[in-house]
Amino acid sequence: MKESLEILEREIMNGFKAARSAVDIDNLKKKYLARKGPLAALIKELAGLPAEERRILGEAINEAKKRIEGVLDDALATLRGAEKSERLGKERLDVTLPGRSLPSGRIHPVTSVTSEIEDIFTSLGFEIAEGPEVELDYYNFEALNIPKDHPARDMQDTFYLSGGVCLRTHTSPVQIRVMEKRRPPLRVIAPGTVYRRDSDITHTPMFHQVEGFMVDEGVSFSALKGVLTHFLHRLFGEDTGVRFRPSFFPFTEPSAEVDIRCVMCAGKGCRVCKGSGWLEILGCGMIHPNVFKSVDYDYGRYSGFAFGLGIERIAMLKHGIDDIRLFFENDIRFLRQF
Ligand code: FA5
Repeated sequence: MKESLEILEREIMNGFKAARSAVDIDNLKKKYLARKGPLAALIKELAGLPAEERRILGEAINEAKKRIEGVLDDALATLRGAEKSERLGKERLDVTLPGRSLPSGRIHPVTSVTSEIEDIFTSLGFEIAEGPEVELDYYNFEALNIPKDHPARDMQDTFYLSGGVCLRTHTSPVQIRVMEKRRPPLRVIAPGTVYRRDSDITHTPMFHQVEGFMVDEGVSFSALKGVLTHFLHRLFGEDTGVRFRPSFFPFTEPSAEVDIRCVMCAGKGCRVCKGSGWLEILGCGMIHPNVFKSVDYDYGRYSGFAFGLGIERIAMLKHGIDDIRLFFENDIRFLRQF
């Protein structure tokens, strides 16, 4: 057995001399010093020997094991240290390299146009109000002088929920909600999301409007013309042509639609303005006496105007976008342009 131990130690030392890396040394340790390795096998064999022989050979095996472990562990530590230094040397960090920049976000064109509109009206003394998107039929229609079965309901294709509730089809119900709670003088705008069963290149089922209204003693149609012309000049430029055309809304009388000179062709006539040279931009009018009645305002004393505009329509004109659906497709290549 002594001979076997000497042969084994020599074999291990030859392996050690041939080793070139920490991995080689580690493999030697795994092979020879493992619990079921050849050294452990020799220790097992001791059991069958007489006591004295067992003591002498046991000591010899233990010493050989300690020597082998010492040599291998020292070599391992040295090689690992060298390998680490070599790796660190190669992995030098160049602190002068520029950092990786994160892609920056953009403000959605609908959001930026909304802010621009809000800035113009707040500078004129208007305050900002909000109302619910899930609305009672009463606020969306009835209080706005559109009773049930009135043909004017067909002007806006509505998403109805159960129990006299719908998704609001316009921001006009905010007029009622504000006037119900407060007394004139009032100068308010109400931006928000609205819903209609509508979908093509100029209509989406979800879009945004800004409602505006002013109520006081002696508010006239000329105030309406003045405020809206000023607003459109600030939004599209001082030279933009603006015209008022008679129209109909159940909640205003008289009513008008406002057009601006086509921003694409400067009025010459193009595909966007369908050759007319004008673009319809908003609806407006003097608040109907029946609307004042529903909020208990004295029609003899107060008068007011109201208007409503589509924000996407304005963003399309400002940025020359020809398909409204692009706003809601979340295509990063489209949004990155703003
Ligand atoms: C109204 O919604 C009225 N409430 C506006 C109003 C308020 C008039 C106060 C008088 C006084 P109209 O249905 O025309 O009006 O819609 C107003 C604007 O919303 C339109 O000019 C258009 O720009 C935009 N719009 C309407 N339907 C859609 C749609 N499906 N997708 C995108 N924009 C739309």
